[in-house]
Amino acid sequence: MSSLSQKRIILGITGGIAAYKSAEIARRLQDEGAEVRVIMTDSAQEFIRPLTLQALTGKPVHTDLLDPKAEAAMGHIELARWADIVLIAPATANFIAVLSQGVANDLLTTVCLASSGSIVVAPAMNQAMWSQPVSLDNIERLKQRNITIFEPDDGIQACGDTGPGRLQQPEAIVDQLCGIFDSGILSGKRVVITAGPTREAIDPVRYISNHSSGKMGFALASGMIDAGAAVTLISGPVSLDSPDRCQLIPVVSASEMLEAATEAVKEADIFISSAAVADYQVTEASSQKIKKKSDKMSLNLSKTPDIVAILSENNPKMFVLGFAAETENIESHARDKLNRKNLDAIIANDVSRDDIGFNSDNNEALWIDANSCQSLSKKSKTQLAREIIVLIAEKIDN
Ligand code: PMT
Repeated sequence: MSSLSQKRIILGITGGIAAYKSAEIARRLQDEGAEVRVIMTDSAQEFIRPLTLQALTGKPVHTDLLDPKAEAAMGHIELARWADIVLIAPATANFIAVLSQGVANDLLTTVCLASSGSIVVAPAMNQAMWSQPVSLDNIERLKQRNITIFEPDDGIQACGDTGPGRLQQPEAIVDQLCGIFDSGILSGKRVVITAGPTREAIDPVRYISNHSSGKMGFALASGMIDAGAAVTLISGPVSLDSPDRCQLIPVVSASEMLEAATEAVKEADIFISSAAVADYQVTEASSQKIKKKSDKMSLNLSKTPDIVAILSENNPKMFVLGFAAETENIESHARDKLNRKNLDAIIANDVSRDDIGFNSDNNEALWIDANSCQSLSKKSKTQLAREIIVLIAEKIDN
């Protein structure tokens, strides 16, 4: 399976003759399993029609910064948050100059400025323009801002010149993009992740549960796979597709999750407990549907096993990352859980907000460990997962 599988990519097209190659790039990205949205600048539309890209991606092409229809559906900030990566291919000399100055004067430059994900620029221009010191300075400035440059090819150009400045072939661009996701920073590590809610039965038709969608845990699983880890994902009932290249173990209740996780962590180096495990279960679930006899009823509840605390105690060498779902006093409540459950670190998120936390595509959190507390700003769960994985890799290295 490709490392672009299930990745969200914005393909930005600017106005140069090489724009015709962007159609092939869009097709190849999708062949690799990526979800592609296209942004075209005004001058790009002189070289290739948005309709071509719309037909290839099956999605409307984004062209205007201030388009009320687009803003209502997926505005520029949502687009920036949605994307795991923004690939600009081809990127003209003018676009590179504007981007290097941090100018946001159209949809594509604005999305680049608003994006906290990776940005990749594949330049295409005449060889003399490419070799100008000012162009090379602009490229250097982009590199200093951690923007990746796919250096142009050398060869015969559309204008008849020969030299550096040709857009790389679509195949080569897509290959290099795969390499960006395969960071390999946790190569060879075995990781177990819990995700989603648990359901605690009241009777055969009713249960106690919560709003977890599994998105955070599944994003961590995908990120860990890209980081080279072997991943076991133990998930409560969710409606998400399993990430490729990962072993998915579906469970329903907290006790089933404990049983699966106890077995899975035997060989693990890292355990991440992002599941929203129900804290209480019905002491004795009814084997038959409970009849509606009186106006009131009470349930006798008992605590579920604390999975992360048990596994941390029984596996002292394993790196254990917990999550804390809080609605107030976030840092102090999370730090209390870090200590009580004997964790190496905890990710605290505010589940009282509806733009992050439960079920949202985005999240914002604190990374808390024994010595530090670090803010992780609002971004897509995919991007946040990648940031968390880098922090784990640093901790393990130390
Ligand atoms: O799934 P999403 O919709 O993407 O939402 C993500 C999320 C909000 C569920 C996630 O980011 C999150 O916060 N997960 C932890 C939810 C939770 O149960 O938090 P808690 O503060 O109640 O528990 C603290 C820690 O103990 C957690 O690591 C939890 O997995 C673990 N726990 C809790 C109870 C229990 N019986 N066993 C446990 O292992």
